[in-house]
Amino acid sequence: MTEILQPGQQYPSGEHADQGTSYGRVRTEGVDTTHGAILYLEEITVSFDGFKALNNLSLDISVGELRCIIGPNGAGKTTMMDVITGKTRPTSGTVFFGQTIDLTKMTEYDIAHVGVGRKFQRPTVFEQHTVFENLELAMKMNKRVKSTLFFKLSSEQKGKIEEILTLIRLNGQERRLAGLLSHGQKQWLEIGMLLMQEPQLLLLDEPVAGMSDAETARTAELLNELRGKHSIVVVEHDMAFVTEIAREGKVTVLHEGSVLAEGTMDKVQNDERVIEVYLGR
Ligand SMILES: Nc1ncnc2c1ncn2[C@@H]1O[C@H](COP(=O)(O)OP(=O)(O)OP(=O)(O)O)[C@@H](O)[C@H]1O
Ligand SMILES: [Mg+2]
Repeated sequence: MTEILQPGQQYPSGEHADQGTSYGRVRTEGVDTTHGAILYLEEITVSFDGFKALNNLSLDISVGELRCIIGPNGAGKTTMMDVITGKTRPTSGTVFFGQTIDLTKMTEYDIAHVGVGRKFQRPTVFEQHTVFENLELAMKMNKRVKSTLFFKLSSEQKGKIEEILTLIRLNGQERRLAGLLSHGQKQWLEIGMLLMQEPQLLLLDEPVAGMSDAETARTAELLNELRGKHSIVVVEHDMAFVTEIAREGKVTVLHEGSVLAEGTMDKVQNDERVIEVYLGR
């Protein structure tokens, strides 16, 4: 299905609802990804009172890619996510979701509903609800699931929640109140809630900040399990973690609002300029 979804338009329902442009198991319904990319940032500049947080930034993310973005404090990584999600309007440049959807013309709400899921640094879960209820609520917020306030979960939907519980390492904990989880577990739950909404692109800003070493290692495992099933952009400062999830994929180094280097972790780690501005500190 390559038809383009307009803001506010419902996703198609019924038995063909899941047949998007096919890239293996990566979801792309409603988005025209015929050229293989899910996201194009083209010459994005963001000026705050003349200071360029992003400076003519261009980059593409392929369908199903797990892209890591690294770079020093203030490089513009979070600002880049703010632009993609409509929180910040660029001063100039375009952001295309697939070939035809210009995200710079859409509201934050509509961007979330065409399938861009974002995780902020601090976990935001419903603390007074159980783990299971949090995932159930997230499912109800998914525009692609026909639901009413009092809908009863089908066995397929229960199965989906079970699958996510296993993925986020919280099976057996589903009756616990989310407020009682550790910081790392809350982060996983929030990732699970995003996944319940079946995003076509998932943005994670510093997912392992504040996690224990064991939790960080499990988060790397989790992301490695999502590899190839979702299109994901991860911003992180934890280089051991980035090395673990980047594998042979591309890592982008941002510096002063532009791409300083791009390539495998091995390549960027040995890049003199990257060592000078970031890794060698
Ligand atoms: N709303 C704003 N007004 C003014 N300046 C801003 C605003 N938002 C961000 N900046 C500036 O833009 C630059 C880029 O910030 P950004 O938060 O994107 O960096 P970052 O790469 O995410 O850094 P970190 O690794 O510390 O999270 C910084 O110098 C920051 O102070
Ligand atoms: Mg940041």
